[in-house]
Amino acid sequence: MESASPIIRPLCASDAAAYASLRLCAIDEAPETFLSTREEEEKRTIDEIEARICATANQVVFGAFAGETLVAVTGLRRYPLRPAQQKGFLWGLFVVHTHRRSGIARRLIATAVDQARAMGLTQIALNTGVENVSAIALYRSTGFEAVEDEPCEAAIDDDTDREVEMVLRLG
Ligand SMILES: CC(C)(COP(=O)(O)OP(=O)(O)OC[C@H]1O[C@@H](n2cnc3c(N)ncnc32)[C@H](O)[C@@H]1OP(=O)(O)O)[C@@H](O)C(=O)NCCC(=O)NCCS
Repeated sequence: MESASPIIRPLCASDAAAYASLRLCAIDEAPETFLSTREEEEKRTIDEIEARICATANQVVFGAFAGETLVAVTGLRRYPLRPAQQKGFLWGLFVVHTHRRSGIARRLIATAVDQARAMGLTQIALNTGVENVSAIALYRSTGFEAVEDEPCEAAIDDDTDREVEMVLRLG
């Protein structure tokens, strides 16, 4: 592991290959946590990946870099429909094993919160599995509160697929 604290910055087109590789690591480690499958990710073209990660007025993906290596990511996206346009959605948070428990996820979230304020958002929502103890502890420690704990329709009998929605209201 690098000794210096990782640098956090928005990803850009030249980060597409590193992002794609990290995303595959994330899906392999925790397939139930991420909405897409390895097959779907592998089918994405470089143009699609660039569009997914490059910052616009409505989205940004932040990466944490240890030296040249991308070791963590998270995305923030504005809800597209008018009644919810002041709401943001935090997605895709992942930190590689070797860099965990050193505060990187907390720093990524703080960066995303600053960005949300700059985008004029009034709240940030996210979903995580009810069994994802570390993520729920992380989100609680950064001010998110659970607002919903409903089973997915297709997974009423399967606790491992249940999700909790959490929200951070930006004062
Ligand atoms: C959850 C995850 C993002 C945490 O990343 P991280 O960089 O290790 O987290 P941080 O070091 O910033 O931890 C901040 C706080 O979160 C909580 N936390 C993080 N990991 C934890 C764990 N394994 N067990 C309990 N609490 C944990 C703690 O409150 C921690 O504060 P502390 O270290 O002062 O006790 C990381 O474990 C991960 O990538 N997991 C797999 C993917 C995933 O579940 N992503 C979330 C999708 S919703």
